[in-house]
Amino acid sequence: MCGIVGYIGDKNSATDFVINGLRALEYRGYDSAGIATTDGGKLIYLKNAGRVNSLAKLVAENGNTYQTVDSKLSCGIGHTRWATHGRPTKVNAHPHTNADKKIFVVCNGIIENYQELKSTLEEKGYKFVSETDTEVIPHLIDSYLKEGEDFFTAFKMAVSDLRGAYAIATYCIDKPEVLYAARLSSPIVIGVGENEHFIASDPSALINNTKKVIFLNDFEVAEIKADKVHIESLDGAKAATGEVVELDYEAEESDIGKYPHFMLKEIHEAPATIESATRGRVKPSINTVKLGGLEAVKQQLTHIDRIIITACGTSYYAGLLGEYLIEEIAGIPVEVELASEFKYRSEPFTRNTAVIAISQSGETADTIAAIKKVEDYGILKLGIVNATGSTIARITDAGVYCHAGPEQSVASTKAFMAQVTILAEIALHLSDGKSKLFSPLLKELSVLPEKAKKVLEAEPQIKELAKKYADCRDFLFMGRGYLYPCALEGALKLKEISYIHAEGCSAGEMKHGPLAMIDENFPTVALAAEGPLLDKMLSNIEEIKARKGPIIAIATEGNDNIERLATDVIFIPKVREQLQPLLVVIVLQLFAYHIAVNKGLNVDRPRNLAKSVTVE
Ligand code: G6P
Repeated sequence: MCGIVGYIGDKNSATDFVINGLRALEYRGYDSAGIATTDGGKLIYLKNAGRVNSLAKLVAENGNTYQTVDSKLSCGIGHTRWATHGRPTKVNAHPHTNADKKIFVVCNGIIENYQELKSTLEEKGYKFVSETDTEVIPHLIDSYLKEGEDFFTAFKMAVSDLRGAYAIATYCIDKPEVLYAARLSSPIVIGVGENEHFIASDPSALINNTKKVIFLNDFEVAEIKADKVHIESLDGAKAATGEVVELDYEAEESDIGKYPHFMLKEIHEAPATIESATRGRVKPSINTVKLGGLEAVKQQLTHIDRIIITACGTSYYAGLLGEYLIEEIAGIPVEVELASEFKYRSEPFTRNTAVIAISQSGETADTIAAIKKVEDYGILKLGIVNATGSTIARITDAGVYCHAGPEQSVASTKAFMAQVTILAEIALHLSDGKSKLFSPLLKELSVLPEKAKKVLEAEPQIKELAKKYADCRDFLFMGRGYLYPCALEGALKLKEISYIHAEGCSAGEMKHGPLAMIDENFPTVALAAEGPLLDKMLSNIEEIKARKGPIIAIATEGNDNIERLATDVIFIPKVREQLQPLLVVIVLQLFAYHIAVNKGLNVDRPRNLAKSVTVE
């Protein structure tokens, strides 16, 4: 969702850094952008509905340098906005400012009590120009300054007045050599350089400049100068940490390379993703699975008798597969909860329950809230997270990193591959070698990257299919067993990027409703790979065929009968049913991708969606 960047120092142009930083954050999803920066003593304050490129053009064309600032340093902030309160217009774009245009504020998140604050400020004579919640912040700071407070105190007082979830960055031209930042439930990180500091809501905006960062914690406020950072906690009970940590990923991993879209690149990274999720962990030669991230809680794990997996979107569907895997392989009961539901539910926990949060970004607001909800119960909190150093990685007791590298496309693909691979590893780890599936699955995991490569070779055929079906209005995805969650994920992928109505269902439920929709214009993607439930699946396919529904089957190589039943078939290599989703989903991802390309849609940035959903 929204993105924040900021710069203070004498090495870079603040404007260049901010514009480039905003470009790096574009993948998160946004609809307008703005900056307030000073270089060489001239202030640029510009906002625009639309892309960062148009903002950059405006900056290059006229610069709008309407005010001079007494500073030799470069300093300033920028923002990409994903509309929550108020339409995506220029006036609603951030930064927002006070009446004399001296205090500039960008904010990610939601200020829940903004109406109340706005009314109080209006009573004092403050005028509002936008429909946003953020605009209360510069006016609040202004009001405290008018009461005689110094700037940092006024900033802290304003932040203390806010209720909700936010990350805030502020720049005031009367304090031209300082940036201010605050955090509550929405991430913000300070990049540390030589006589320069950077701010970003997502470290990917910083990695070309520095890997040394300070993650702000909830209720912390920061006063950031070129040569030092001062952090305070507004939560009396906690001291500010301000620890500098080193990020461990490479900038070039975010390059699009030879691919037209990040989504296609990331789908093609499936074999490499499985490889990095298993490297050093899956060791068939010595019949071992080793998860370093769980070592610290090894003892506690032996007492676990119930697991709750919580996540959103694609990560939730990976979680459903985790339920099948852990229950079958480790014999531990698992429930999977949408984080947005789990956080508001009242349910009993025992000490022997463990919660596993799954998240690509590690910053999804609902998943963070779900983890925070169980904090007081003293139960084990684990994470399966891709973004290193993200909030979920930090607030869980232990976990396993996905190591999938940055995922740029809004629709998640390679992260799902990594999450499911890791869930299989966790299931094997929890079974402690006792499952009869232990050795076979370890072996299978080590050859899976090769099989994933073979699936990718079917892309030309999948592309043809996409062309054939691109104009359909609706799709049904059905599967049984391990392929049921996979059907749900296939439907999600299609609707996310092609805006086609798609439903996922368990094939066993067809007769309880979905079958009513079937006719010659309503195709079904039938996940019919080899396994104990294949015969039942074939009966479901027969029922659809009898009602003239077109059938696209995904089947295991060597199943010649399926061609008699299905309209079209894509074959995948033979693989144990527990790991079939990892191959089948590649077909579904490519199918959704090529349909969206056929429709001429913005595949990497689908309308109305964001990569990192940092508000409820
Ligand atoms: C958004 C993204 C999805 C993602 C979901 C959960 O909806 O568009 O791709 O699956 O959030 O995100 P997380 O980062 O927690 O996995």
